Amino acid sequence: MALSVLGVFLGLLLEVSAHGPSSVPRSSWRREDVNLLEFWESGVFNYSTLLLNEERGALYVGAREAVFELSKDNVSVKKNQVSWQVSKTHMDMCVSKGKSKEKECLNYIRVLQVYDDHHLYVCGTYAFQPNCDYLSLSDFRLMNKQEDGRGKCSYDPAQSFTTVMVDGELYSGTAYNFLGSEPIISRYSLSQSLLRTEYSTSWLNEPSFVFADVIREGRNSADGDDDKIYYFFTEVSVEYEFFGKLLIPRIARVCKGDQGGQRTLQKKWTSFLKAKLVCSMPELNFVFNVVHDVFILKTPDWRETVIYGVFTSQWGNVGLSAVCAYNMTSVDEVFSKGKYMQKATVEQSHTKWVRYNGITPTPRPGACINNQNRMQNIDSSLQLPDKTLQFVKDHPLLADPVLPIGNGPRLIAKDVNYTQIAVERVPALDNNVYDVIFTGTDKGVLHKSVVYEGGVHTVEELQLLKNPEPIKTLLLSTQGARFLYAGSDSGVVQSPTAFCEKYQTCADCILARDPYCAWDPHAASCVNIFRTQDHAQRRKLLQDLRGDAGRCPSVRPRMAESYRRMVVKPGSSAELPCRVRSNLAQVQWKINGSDLTEASNFLLMGDTGLLIYSVAPEDQGRYECWSVEAAAGKNFTRLVAGFDLQLDLPKSESSLSFSADLIEELNPDIQSTVRSSTTSTVCSSVLSGGGPSVSRSSSSSSSSPSSSSSVWGGVGGGARLLPPLLPQQSWGVHSHQAFLLYCLALGPSDVSIHWYANGRRLHTAINEYRHTFTHESVLVSSWVREEPLSKDTQYQCIAISRSGNDTSETDLRLSSGDEANSVSKELNQWREALAEHEHQLQNWKKAWVGTHTHTHTHTHTHSLS
Ligand SMILES: *[C@@H]1O[C@H](CO)[C@@H](O)[C@H](O)[C@H]1NC(C)=O
Ligand SMILES: *[C@@H]1O[C@H](CO)[C@@H](O)[C@H](O)[C@H]1NC(C)=O
Ligand SMILES: *[C@@H]1O[C@H](CO)[C@@H](O)[C@H](O)[C@H]1NC(C)=O
Ligand SMILES: *[C@@H]1O[C@H](CO)[C@@H](O)[C@H](O)[C@H]1NC(C)=O
Ligand SMILES: *[C@@H]1O[C@H](CO)[C@@H](O)[C@H](O)[C@H]1NC(C)=O
Ligand SMILES: *[C@@H]1O[C@H](CO)[C@@H](O)[C@H](O)[C@H]1NC(C)=O
Ligand SMILES: *[C@@H]1O[C@H](CO)[C@@H](O)[C@H](O)[C@H]1NC(C)=O
Repeated sequence: MALSVLGVFLGLLLEVSAHGPSSVPRSSWRREDVNLLEFWESGVFNYSTLLLNEERGALYVGAREAVFELSKDNVSVKKNQVSWQVSKTHMDMCVSKGKSKEKECLNYIRVLQVYDDHHLYVCGTYAFQPNCDYLSLSDFRLMNKQEDGRGKCSYDPAQSFTTVMVDGELYSGTAYNFLGSEPIISRYSLSQSLLRTEYSTSWLNEPSFVFADVIREGRNSADGDDDKIYYFFTEVSVEYEFFGKLLIPRIARVCKGDQGGQRTLQKKWTSFLKAKLVCSMPELNFVFNVVHDVFILKTPDWRETVIYGVFTSQWGNVGLSAVCAYNMTSVDEVFSKGKYMQKATVEQSHTKWVRYNGITPTPRPGACINNQNRMQNIDSSLQLPDKTLQFVKDHPLLADPVLPIGNGPRLIAKDVNYTQIAVERVPALDNNVYDVIFTGTDKGVLHKSVVYEGGVHTVEELQLLKNPEPIKTLLLSTQGARFLYAGSDSGVVQSPTAFCEKYQTCADCILARDPYCAWDPHAASCVNIFRTQDHAQRRKLLQDLRGDAGRCPSVRPRMAESYRRMVVKPGSSAELPCRVRSNLAQVQWKINGSDLTEASNFLLMGDTGLLIYSVAPEDQGRYECWSVEAAAGKNFTRLVAGFDLQLDLPKSESSLSFSADLIEELNPDIQSTVRSSTTSTVCSSVLSGGGPSVSRSSSSSSSSPSSSSSVWGGVGGGARLLPPLLPQQSWGVHSHQAFLLYCLALGPSDVSIHWYANGRRLHTAINEYRHTFTHESVLVSSWVREEPLSKDTQYQCIAISRSGNDTSETDLRLSSGDEANSVSKELNQWREALAEHEHQLQNWKKAWVGTHTHTHTHTHTHSLS
């Protein structure tokens, strides 16, 4: 089986990426977009243990050699602090055993548990000699009752470890020795002796512990059953034959009332059983076999509890993470009714694990003491018969696996490694509850996803940590103002659990499909439903978790005057910004109401807007940026931004002052008249004014436009820049404004464009576009966006290729000369260049269409997806 896992695994990766319930986050927030609160103290690291006390309003943080008490409402507010350093003798002993003084021989606080109302129980690695103490909350001091921490806390700060305090008893999963080679699951209590696992590979085989918690199955139990402590870990499988170490995720449990056996299993668990935790896609035979973290979503009735786990595969470089959910009822079925696995010796020194089909002793091995046992005078595990105990000692592994709800992952994420998970069950306004899954990655990113009927929806991603480092702990506060806390090596971050106020329109608010958010039609804002406690007010809120934005109040059509007027000089570039904040939306640009697809060759679309190179009279018009987003089986189309683009032309003829609005109402005949008169005006008149301009001096190019009239299908003479060259563009530049310069070049496959300002290479250039249209010729474009000039600057763009270079340059000066004259001269120059450009583009298009690979001429646009 194991071999086929790997084979199938490698073969089906592509299919997995294509078929899994994977999800692109709809919104991406940067740290500066949202309000995060942070805490770190200089010189202190490894803030990896968090404990929330909602009643006291405190977040306790265990770090390296320090414990902090922070305000749960604002982690930037430090209320208390205590440091706990290693004594010199312990340090020396640690160093003498070969551990590093600066790192390993320090005290990493790894256990922070509520002991009673006034004390926390704290353990640290204490220079590889684990040590525990009590922290008094009244004065925030350690009581110096140092207790042996072996079995409660790891020796090695880097080793996996888990712990949970249940009714004053500490349950841990860790290593019991200095070398870290003896794993144990143990219980420590004041009143009883340490109870632990048997030291045997069939009990625990190189486990990585990730989580442990109690399920109160004993509460109101009709058959007098006991509470259970569940453990989650990944271990090396004993049951599969594999050429290497095959890892298997496990769920294990022990009974709270276990006291060990009388003769057999003395001071050992009599109730330790474990099962395989499956997270796979059966239809593809793809297995996620490493569990990294678990969150138990508890409910008043334990049977409704849901266990969430994050998984990756052992072959970590495939870049897939999964979240699987498990039904507590089915978990209990496996443990209380499942078959056991049995070790069978096949040949000498070769053992195999097979399903045990013989008779199992009674009481059932590994079960907790219940009323039925009590009726047979078995009141504690000490009274269990040897037969039962010997059986469970030899058969700790169950044959039946725990399968995920729906038989597959709830969620698959590509190109991320999830490290942590926290889940909140959110009652939405539709009276349903939704499980909101927060996952943290090894690069400090947080994802928030919701499982809906139609599939998983990832509402947002957020760069939570400043540095791309792993999120070590995730914690949710679900009372009052809801927050999420994340611990990492460098600090603690506090984040709201929703960013409703970021959605500025009703459509955006609804399309987000965030169960925390709803649209308030009165306030015309997107609000967090948990901040609106008033029932009458909540009823007025609009929420549709399918994302049906059609329920939004209709918005007034945009008024003509709300289109932003952009006036640019001919030949300069225009940037029409349009930021569509949804990664699920498609962006569609329209000009004068028609889709901009087959449009001018001077256009570039990016994810921040539209850039029009070398604006010509025909490019004027009304530009609209639309976003199209699918939800609830419909497409929602919204106008995001609108512009009226006009050229700054001489005002000698009234037709030029027509706004696009006015022109729109004219009939086509008149329109064409307007158009032709515009053109003729440009050619004949003298420009008047136009703000402080930059004057240009010598503008030269190594290849004059006329020399470049060669055939465009083959570029014999190396790289060649296409007009308009820099001198022609420069006259549209205003010295006091940011400006754009661009170059287009045609050349052999290695052609590239380099920029220089006063001889210094500009590394901020954007290489926006590259298109191969025959074997030996490639079209590239590159542009630079420059801030207003502070001094005269010479710009150069050089098209470089192995078979020759081409340079264009211009000097931009701050001083203004005889503006009107030079401008009109250059306007004519520009028109010539433009005509030349048009001519060349025609040739170029012909060459392109002539090649068999591409038949469309749409070149510079690419849409957001
Ligand atoms: C949190 O506390 C810090 C430090 O006292 C303060 O500067 C900040 O304004 C507080 N932020 C909020 C949201 O209360
Ligand atoms: C503690 O934090 C430091 C600094 O970020 C990091 O280099 C180190 O690996 C961390 N140690 C452990 C045991 O997490
Ligand atoms: C868990 O399984 C039980 C029995 O199979 C079923 O009744 C229950 O609805 C399931 N719960 C969830 C949350 O899937
Ligand atoms: C995930 O982790 C593995 C193993 O640490 C690493 O090789 C891989 O680059 C990581 N992938 C991503 C997308 O971060
Ligand atoms: C848009 O309309 C204006 C005014 O009618 C016209 O001048 C312009 O050329 C049109 N633009 C395009 C690209 O059709
Ligand atoms: C939504 O738009 C996409 C692409 O434009 C199209 O394929 C799809 O059929 C549309 N869906 C509906 C419901 O109109
Ligand atoms: C083109 O420019 C590159 C980089 O500046 C230079 O190395 C190369 O020699 C130039 N080629 C020619 C033919 O001038």
